[in-house]
Amino acid sequence: MYQFPKIMYGGDYNPDQWSESIWDEDIRLFKLANIDIVTLPVFSWAKLQPSEDSYNFGWLDKIMEKMASNNIKVCCATSTAAQPSWMSKKFPDVLPVDINGIKRKHGGRTNFCPNSKNYRKFSVRLATKLSERYKNNPSLLVWHIGNEYINICYCENCAKAFRKWLKQKYKNVEEVNKKWNMNFWGHTIYSWDEIDSVSNLTEMGRDTFSGHDRDITAFQGMALDYKRFMSDSVFECYLGEYNAIKKLTPNIPITTNLMGFFKPLNYQKWSKKMDIISLDNYPYPNEDSSIAALKHSLMRGLKNGEPFMFMEQSPSQVNWQPVNSLKKPGVMRLQSYQAIAHGSETVMFFQLRRSLGACEKLHGAVIDHVGHENTRVFRECSHLGKELTKLGDKISGSRIYSKVAILIDWENWWAVEYSSGLTIHLNYINQIEKYYKTIHNMNISVDIISLEDKFENYDVIISPVLYMIKENVSKLLESYVNNGGTFITTFFSGLVDENDLVTTKGYPGELRKLLGIWVEEIDAILPTENNTMLINEKLIGFKKSYTCNTICDILHLENAKALAEYGNDFYKGMPVLTKNQFGKGVAYYIASDPEEDFLKDFFTDLFSKIDIKTPFTADEGLEITQRKKGSKVYTFILNHNNTKSRISLDDKKYIDLLTDEEFSNEIIIDSKDVKILENKS
Ligand code: GLA
Ligand code: ZN
Repeated sequence: MYQFPKIMYGGDYNPDQWSESIWDEDIRLFKLANIDIVTLPVFSWAKLQPSEDSYNFGWLDKIMEKMASNNIKVCCATSTAAQPSWMSKKFPDVLPVDINGIKRKHGGRTNFCPNSKNYRKFSVRLATKLSERYKNNPSLLVWHIGNEYINICYCENCAKAFRKWLKQKYKNVEEVNKKWNMNFWGHTIYSWDEIDSVSNLTEMGRDTFSGHDRDITAFQGMALDYKRFMSDSVFECYLGEYNAIKKLTPNIPITTNLMGFFKPLNYQKWSKKMDIISLDNYPYPNEDSSIAALKHSLMRGLKNGEPFMFMEQSPSQVNWQPVNSLKKPGVMRLQSYQAIAHGSETVMFFQLRRSLGACEKLHGAVIDHVGHENTRVFRECSHLGKELTKLGDKISGSRIYSKVAILIDWENWWAVEYSSGLTIHLNYINQIEKYYKTIHNMNISVDIISLEDKFENYDVIISPVLYMIKENVSKLLESYVNNGGTFITTFFSGLVDENDLVTTKGYPGELRKLLGIWVEEIDAILPTENNTMLINEKLIGFKKSYTCNTICDILHLENAKALAEYGNDFYKGMPVLTKNQFGKGVAYYIASDPEEDFLKDFFTDLFSKIDIKTPFTADEGLEITQRKKGSKVYTFILNHNNTKSRISLDDKKYIDLLTDEEFSNEIIIDSKDVKILENKS
């Protein structure tokens, strides 16, 4: 685990967009704002390498020296997210082909083919040169490879690499035919050469039937493999640079900035070769605060709860949303502490100085176009900088411990949404958000875990819509529940294996024994319609009827008991919520997509029975988390409300690390304000 000396504070800085005359003024302003880390050079490849054989590091040397002499740390970027134009012209294999088969020309950024030999050669060479040059610079704190990898390609080189990837995985074409179910529509192949990249020219297409703007495919097994292969291919670009840097600076952590739930890239797989995780987050103005909390929890979960970096946020507005509102006073500070409250070790911005031209000229920055410190945004940034300096190393390295986890599988996400049925209204991440939000709003900490994490660390594991059951997963879940764990899953689970081939064991297939049910049919509900869930109050601690929709599984009890039944339709009276005692634990099945109130009541009831509770009770809209280090507990209280709100403490004495005020019994906290309490012993 990498630990920084304090919560580092700063962000993306593009000195190469400005004349040198401004650099010293920038540094004065950074110091004024207590900024102690800058990320650079993120997009400077063209400046660093004017031609195939010439490099120009002079300007970067100067800026690196300035940072060192001013005690500002550098998150050193490798600049490989946008190749120089000469490279695209001279080595056309660098340019990608899009899903419609159109070869791209030079332009934009992350506009390169991940399987281009030349891209890989030149990017690794640049990363090597940067590491050789700056490995002894005292400012170097962390490496930042590329930037927001996003590039997917369908060119001939990719098709060739795909065949190689498949050969390694399946050994022979008969196996491919089997795994992709190629008897369907007479797709049987006889040689590797028959396999192409999986694009709109082959097995992909747009969803013209439902009128929904989404990719569809007739061959899910094949499309899933292309997605896996592409995620791996892009990852190899990252890995090439990672290995080169690691050799030269083995003790400097390496990261690349992730984008939360970015579907095409399997971050759960990527994270294994990231020394520290980092997140870019740009919430929409009225976004529920649980969405950011979930992304932070995802980042923390990618490396077993290790602290992560909050790499990018805007100090105020962005430029690319439909309407780019300012962040109102206090909101940037609140969102920064929210990241720390969930495990971040940095607060960083895109960007430190606002660009003069091109598409990000109206994107918020610490230093505005006017160039001085007398702005609201600068004052807010500098206030936060002072606070983070005051915190020192108190919080750094502390961890969050949760009893509840939501289990997510990235490939399951791909598979659910490729599945061509049963409803376009089933969105995997929305389901995750819904479950997370319910528990998060109770101020109970939730970890986001993968199939490879240790289930036994948790009292409760929830895995909504676990459609794809990979090998061994049912065994792991069975042993978890058998040993006393509580497992909850939902409708549309246990249907297929990792190749999207449907189980013949009766749904939910491999999970049937654990859940003690058999799902006979699956109904999809029109958005204008609902069913109801009628709770059997004798079996569960609350009584009510709730609406449900999206999907209704029609199921039979095997070993399980019904805790609620459908209220409508021809399956009225059949189970919609079941509980199965399995060894020392229990497994619940929620057979439809319930209204939020149901989840609130269900989890309140469940948690009260197994003694999972919030550290302190508080008004709605207050977020409470705890980070722990040794015997120290740091309680974060964040007021997302527009009004003052109240939290009840106990009668122990607490000190707010931000203001040194002492509290006990209760706190009335101002709108958008934050407290970080430490126990006073
Ligand atoms: C991303 C990128 C940055 C910048 C911001 C703008 O996060 O990494 O380079 O473009 O978006 O919001
Ligand atoms: Zn390609």
